[in-house]
Amino acid sequence: SRLTQHTKTHHPFIVKEAIPSTNTFALNSFSSFEEGSVILAHHQTKGKGRLGRQWSATMGKSIALSLVLRPTIDSQSLPLFTQLTAAALCQALKAYGDTQIKWPNDIVLNGKKVAGILIESQFQENRLEGLVIGIGINTHLEPDDFEDSLLHKATSLKIETKQTVDPNVIIADFLIEFDQFYTDWLETRQTFPFISLCKKESALLGKEIHVYSPNEPPKTATVKDINEKGELIVHYQGHAQLTPLQSLDFSVRN
Ligand code: BTN
Repeated sequence: SRLTQHTKTHHPFIVKEAIPSTNTFALNSFSSFEEGSVILAHHQTKGKGRLGRQWSATMGKSIALSLVLRPTIDSQSLPLFTQLTAAALCQALKAYGDTQIKWPNDIVLNGKKVAGILIESQFQENRLEGLVIGIGINTHLEPDDFEDSLLHKATSLKIETKQTVDPNVIIADFLIEFDQFYTDWLETRQTFPFISLCKKESALLGKEIHVYSPNEPPKTATVKDINEKGELIVHYQGHAQLTPLQSLDFSVRN
């Protein structure tokens, strides 16, 4: 099985009480963190979401972690890591219900967002030094912790399972899944193992979506595929050809 094929990956843990953001913390002292380091915070005061959004992390009610990696890759491979991470996180959260991946970076549980991924990269003199994979998981949030406008779109593991969950188990399960996909990819550079999972568990495949790109009105499209580069292949209404979307430039809503 995949489990026995690979050497173990080392994960030094750095645990903080309260910091602005685990991603910012990792990027600010990037050179001091070795490959595989995991930065965890009980509380984030300035958590970052994708596309400049905010991500609040309430004390003890969610997991906020950043994983530091230093693979030798060019920056074109960066979007792949969002898909690799999403596949691993989706697998790790399977135990709590019906999880799906909403391309590019959300994990939904029973149809509502339960976790998000924000990958940031570190450049040193125009060379990619490494990346920081930020993950936020709503573990113990209660309905009252969400703004009313978010309640129909977001949830927590506790709300969905009606049980308290163990964050350590979730983090360990995520790292096990991640390490398998990551070491496999480093060896083979094959994206199939995690992309096929992203497709199988996709919340968007075959659906109609609205694509938001900067300075343009939203466009309606049907999702046809996710390709080996992790791009979302869509069919815009009234277009003859299919269009690949790269995760960095778009936001999609259904
Ligand atoms: C999103 O859904 O937009 C991505 C959310 C990512 C949040 C995590 S929490 C840990 C890490 N540190 C941050 O500031 N953001 C990520």
